[in-house]
Parts: sequence; C-alpha cells; structure tokens
Amino acid sequence: MQKDANIDWKNLGFGYTKTDFRYISIWKDGKWDDGKLSEDNMLTMSESSTALHYGQQCFEGLKAYRRKDGTIQLFRPDENAKRFNRSASRLLMPEVPVEKFIDACKQVVKANEHFVPPYGTGATLYLRPFLIGVGHNLGVKPAPEYIFCVFCSPVGAYFKGGMTPVNFMITEEYDRAAPHGTGDVKVGGNYAASLLAHEDAVKKGFADCIYLDAKTQTKIEEVGAANFFGITQNNEFITPNSPSILPSITRYSLMHVAKEYLGLEVKERDVYVDKLDEFKEAGACGTAAVITPIGGIEYKGKLHVFHSETEVGPVTKKLYDTLYGIQFGDVDAPEGWIYEV
Ligand code: PLP
Ligand code: COI
Repeated sequence: MQKDANIDWKNLGFGYTKTDFRYISIWKDGKWDDGKLSEDNMLTMSESSTALHYGQQCFEGLKAYRRKDGTIQLFRPDENAKRFNRSASRLLMPEVPVEKFIDACKQVVKANEHFVPPYGTGATLYLRPFLIGVGHNLGVKPAPEYIFCVFCSPVGAYFKGGMTPVNFMITEEYDRAAPHGTGDVKVGGNYAASLLAHEDAVKKGFADCIYLDAKTQTKIEEVGAANFFGITQNNEFITPNSPSILPSITRYSLMHVAKEYLGLEVKERDVYVDKLDEFKEAGACGTAAVITPIGGIEYKGKLHVFHSETEVGPVTKKLYDTLYGIQFGDVDAPEGWIYEV
C-alpha cells in the first residue's frame, strides 16, 4: 500500500518539495565509497570548498514516470550519466561510473515511491544528480574531496501553461557561453551567468530569453534551460548545430522521433535569427521544459509569431504526443531508452 504524499499533483509547478530520501556518496583518497540513502536534506562542508568559491560543480536533470499500470520508468538515464561525466571531466572532477549513477537514481526513486505522481496527472518525479568539490582548499585548483548526491522532487510544468505557447525574447545584451567555454556541459556557472538575462526577459513579459552565438550574434543558440527547434515550411525538423549549446537528451530523442516515427527530414545546422520566416512552428525542448511551443520570438523590438500565440502547431503536437507517450510507457520506445525502476 502506497503512503500518501498529500500533494495536489495536477497543480504542481516546477519547485522543490522535500522528499524522504536522497543518495549520497563521497569521493576521498582517490575513490568513491559505496554510497547510501540519507534522510537529511542538508549538507555540511568546508567553508573553503571549491564548489562554493570557484564553481567546481556539475549537475543533471532527469525524470521518473509513472506508467498506466502503476510501475515506474526512467528515460535514458545512461545518457544523463555520460553527460554528467563529460561535465565532471571538464572541471577536473572524478567521474561517477555509469552503473553507480543509474543505481543511485533507481534507489532514490524506490525510496521515495509515494512521491512519484500518479499516471495521468502529467506530473513526474524530477531527479537532480549533482557533484560538488568539497574539503579544505584555498587556491584555484581541484578539490581534495567530492560529494555526489541525487535528490528528487515531484514537479509539473517548467514554463507556465505546459503545452500552451509562450513567447521568448532574443537577448543581445548577454551571452550564455563562449565558443571554447563551458556551454556544452552542465555546470552551475552557466546558470549563474543566465540569471540576470532571464530576469530581464521575465520583467519584459517573456517566459525566458534565447541566446545568440557569442562570436557573431547572428545565430540562435538556445534558451536558458532548453534547446531550440523549428519546423520549416516543408516539414523539416531543424535544430541549431553549435559547440556551445548543451547537447539536450530530449532534443536528440526528438530528432529520432521526428525521423523514425513522423517521417520528417531532420537537420542539425545553423539557424539565423534574421531568417525566422523559414519556420512555421518552433519550440523549446528539455527534461524540465519537455516540449514548450514557442508562440513568438521578439528580436530588435519586433515580435515574430510562428504558428500562433495561443494554439499549438500540428507537428509540435505530434512530436509532443509521441515523446510523452514514450516517456510514460504508452508508446513503444526505441531499444535501450527505458529503464524500469
Ligand atoms: N539546454 C540547457 C541550457 C539546459 O539546462 C537543459 C536542461 O537540461 C537543456 C538544454 C535540455 O537538456 P535535456 O533535454 O538533456 O534535459
Ligand atoms: C532540466 O531540464 O533538467 C534542467 O536542468 C533545466 C533547468 C531546471 C536547469
């Protein structure tokens, strides 16, 4: 019999709810310990930890989905594990073995089973694995010790309205990532740097901002927490090709869905901000954002509307239904995408 988490599942936003257990493992003297579940949601660390001063940390985001029959599944956690390790290596942190990462996620979901939202509510259990440099240190160098933690929180839509279109603005004032910087890995510094641009966009009435490539300021890179895609007038699925965007697992999954399930042409290539007319539909995609239809994009004071500011375009809707169906176990998934908990 499931415990009742006493949550209004249908009205959940994207926020933190304290759950019962999180997984913690410590790296010390060159190796990981076995890791364990903990009921304590507070961490204690040296005041001189590199995570606090020099941003030596990385994180991931993935979800656990409740299927119609009540069982629970994870969506491509191995891809999150691999990206986590690319982020860790970029900041000279120890990698977490893929099996350890997936096992930690499964343990956390099982221990917090009653926080996995019921099927049909659209809500999910969001998992947040992270790795931080800790231990006594002062100079700019890698930490002597690390904490790997996975906590979870039940969540609803990231962008208000879920599958209703939202508007974004192009920021020319701020860049998210430099060509040889850390834009392609999931490290906290990228997000700290995006806070001001995000606040600016929200104050102007937009859901978030879209960044351009830092070098030429002519090409769309991505949204602060999601990748961009567009559907051309002749039904091609287009998504930016850039070394400074985060390689979104949702985006690569959508590329597969677009090609193999919907029969669309798929291209990863430059998307010029002054050529938005080539798209009849556009969207933002990510674990938290799922697929958020883009109503319009404001650039140089002019709002470019795609399909509609209020209605979801037909191709975006099909992409959403297929991906959502795979993630919740209603549509057959490609081999290796689903991990049962
Ligand atoms: N881009 C950024 C900057 C993100 O933070 C995220 C979220 O993880 C994404 C894109 C989407 O990536 P994914 O689909 O792997 O969640
Ligand atoms: C995600 O989609 O998992 C993210 O990490 C986005 C954001 C909440 C940082």
